[in-house]
Amino acid sequence: MSVPIIAPSILSADFAKLGEEARAIETAGADWLHVDVMDGHFVPNITIGPMVVKALRPHVTIPIDVHLMIAPADPYLEAFREAGADRISLHPEAGPHLDRSVKQIHQLGAKAGVVLNPATSPETIEWILDEIDLILIMTVNPGFGGQSFIASQLRKIERVREMIDSSGRDIVLEVDGGVTPETAPLCLAAGATALVAGTAVFKDGPAGYAANIRALKGV
Ligand code: DX5
Ligand code: ZN
Repeated sequence: MSVPIIAPSILSADFAKLGEEARAIETAGADWLHVDVMDGHFVPNITIGPMVVKALRPHVTIPIDVHLMIAPADPYLEAFREAGADRISLHPEAGPHLDRSVKQIHQLGAKAGVVLNPATSPETIEWILDEIDLILIMTVNPGFGGQSFIASQLRKIERVREMIDSSGRDIVLEVDGGVTPETAPLCLAAGATALVAGTAVFKDGPAGYAANIRALKGV
């Protein structure tokens, strides 16, 4: 098993010091900065928009991994890309034309990802596998940090791993929600290659970030 990509979720950072927090997690060894965008409509919480991504961009050199939990998503793709998003992922339930959305993300010059909610079937992405760069499996219901890992999703990670392997494409398999040093090895054994973590990275304040990231990497 190779060392996973760790993408700390800025959702669990101190929102009064976002730039400082972003710099601290890069210094601590984060590979990507995960930004959870919520609209109070697709999910029952409101977080941040493109202006905050733009404000964060100069603070880090690592890729910004934007997870859109908004509906519709299409009208905002360009704004997030212009703000500095390197990867943009969206939920199939966010709109009627997933293929069109993915093509638009590529036209904007970003990597495109599709996010599967706990009850969403992997077959949803079967006919778009040859176009996407990332699949994000939700191991909680999206909306809040600090929730418990839904273990049934491990079988879905295995299933999506098989789909990726048989496609022959280089697609990142990312897991989001309740990822801890205990659940991370289960996700990696099931075939994940990237892990999002909010609480598990930010819980002890900046002094703990490096050790927390190392614990998730298993090194
Ligand atoms: C949930 C978000 C996650 C979440 C992860 O809607 O997509 O990124 O913040 O937080 P933890 O790691 O605390 O479960
Ligand atoms: Zn997320």
